[in-house]
Amino acid sequence: MPVKEQLIAEGLRQKMCGIFGCVLSEGNAAPLIHSSLKRLEYRGYDSVGIAVLNNGKISIKKDQGKIDEVHKIHNLDDLPGNIGIGHTRWATHGAPLKINSHPHTDCSGEIVVVHNGIIENFLDLKSELQNLGHIFSSKTDTEIMPHLIEEALKQNPQLNIQQAVQQSLKRIEGSYAFAIISTREPDKIICARNESPLVLGINHKGVFCASDIPAFLEVTNKAVMINNGELVILTNQDYEIKKISDGSTITREPISIEWTAEMAVKQGHPHFMIKEIHEQPETLRNTLRMQDHYLDLLTTFLDRANEVFLVACGTSYHACLAASYMFSKLAFLPTYPVYASEFLEQHGKSVNIDSTILAVSQSGETADTLAAVNCAQQRAATVLGLTNVIGSSLTRISRVYIGTQSGPEIGVAATKTFTSQLSVLAQLALKLAKKRGKISQDEMDTLEEKLGQIPEVVNSIVTSQEQKIQQLAKKYANSKVFFFLGRGISTATAFEGRLKLMEIAYIPSISFPAGESKHGPISLIENGFPVVFVCPKDDTHKTVIGNIMEMKARGAHIIAVIEEGDQDIKSLSDDYIEVPKGIPSVLTPIPYAIPLQLLAYYTALEKGFNPDMPRNLAKSVTVK
Ligand code: M6R
Repeated sequence: MPVKEQLIAEGLRQKMCGIFGCVLSEGNAAPLIHSSLKRLEYRGYDSVGIAVLNNGKISIKKDQGKIDEVHKIHNLDDLPGNIGIGHTRWATHGAPLKINSHPHTDCSGEIVVVHNGIIENFLDLKSELQNLGHIFSSKTDTEIMPHLIEEALKQNPQLNIQQAVQQSLKRIEGSYAFAIISTREPDKIICARNESPLVLGINHKGVFCASDIPAFLEVTNKAVMINNGELVILTNQDYEIKKISDGSTITREPISIEWTAEMAVKQGHPHFMIKEIHEQPETLRNTLRMQDHYLDLLTTFLDRANEVFLVACGTSYHACLAASYMFSKLAFLPTYPVYASEFLEQHGKSVNIDSTILAVSQSGETADTLAAVNCAQQRAATVLGLTNVIGSSLTRISRVYIGTQSGPEIGVAATKTFTSQLSVLAQLALKLAKKRGKISQDEMDTLEEKLGQIPEVVNSIVTSQEQKIQQLAKKYANSKVFFFLGRGISTATAFEGRLKLMEIAYIPSISFPAGESKHGPISLIENGFPVVFVCPKDDTHKTVIGNIMEMKARGAHIIAVIEEGDQDIKSLSDDYIEVPKGIPSVLTPIPYAIPLQLLAYYTALEKGFNPDMPRNLAKSVTVK
């Protein structure tokens, strides 16, 4: 099977997605499920599905496409029954096809499940269940859940549905929010949570479960937050929360939500950009759940390439620039990061059958990137893709692609997709280093361990530095121009910080490798000129100190992003932002980009601009 089809066939995992369920005291559930899924559509819109229980029978409608498109064909409201569940999907691996749309069922069709999350051990569980005779009809990880429940009930017919779900959950590794209905106990929904969000809504008309509050906010503002490791039984006008581990009951009263519907979509944040900055610990955790299988496939292509071009625009180009350092330092693979808009002129004639193009694009639809990729493909080069949108043009053109699993990014300024791209590229560089024998097992273990800690590091930066950065934004918002400087891999981080500030705060900013300043740009420096230095404690540290001193001597104001406790640079800086210690150099662009994203965001606010909608820009640039 060609590799691309293999990828489509073998891995269908969804990260973002929206789930909803309701038990109504009267009336039909389907219209409410439909309208609630519409309010969750920002979480994904590749496919949609609804299952409703009526007179002990379950009916399902589902298809690929946006909710309105599917509704036009199938009339999602036309399903009788007062209990039901629904799902809107954001595919992160594999094609967004009808067969992979939720809900999914067991062999008998009596147990029906919707899911948001990633089941990491699904391949093992699937083959175990297949050996026991279970027939699977999709390629999703989710489908193992109804079969696990079915098997639990087969093995022990005394179990009730809640116990069977509880037993099945104990077999699952990964993240989930499930909502489950069954004809065996047609008066309830069972839902459960580990890492993926789950919240209940309650009022006199019924009880609701959802991925997010906006789903039911028009019906009720009384919500009950569900925690990791909890299972809930929803019945008419009631809910019972239990611990998955031991089945003990937990009492939790509803709280009143004061958000407007618009605020709720942004989870209480004033803008999508800041919501997406805050989401990064979660999105990074997801990219770390990437199955080795996909990384191995891409690594094989990179390993056999004669020359590798890393092609992208804007922020994605900065991820490529950082990746060129990762590939070189870890795997000893030289790569060429190229602005996609320059690819044809620079390499259009020389690219050939022995070339490999790794195209990186959040949207997968950027015209310049697609033009570069098309040119390379026509000249028989191998095209690999890294994108956040499965089903985008880039995934269709690429021989092999990987999804960055960040969920939809709505703010025009790329934030969470940038750090996810970096995380995937770092994983690729590590795999390649191992394959080529360029790294010892000890080094590999350390780097993997450090990569695993990055989500928590990012979380601690946001928690500890956000207020300080807000103050810095106030202090520097009226500056006419900024420098952003770094050396080594931090050059890419500095480039990204500069782009963020320019595109949303409209402050002209200049960025180049710090060593270049003495070759010209330093002539711009005068008293009070703000210079942002990205300076982790890596091999460049000493030289960067020299560059800082050169700037300081000419009156620049130094704003340094430093490793926690770096007294040398602290003493030279006017202001500093601290990042936790001990991050290997090749991984620094992920955490060090966070303060720069926050600086851009708060500076835009200071200047009265809407960071979500910068002038003259679009989220996806489909013209050359
Ligand atoms: O969808 P892509 O990653 O291909 O988009 C590339 C650039 O257009 C994009 O990164 C742009 O620079 C963003 N506005 C950066 O925040």
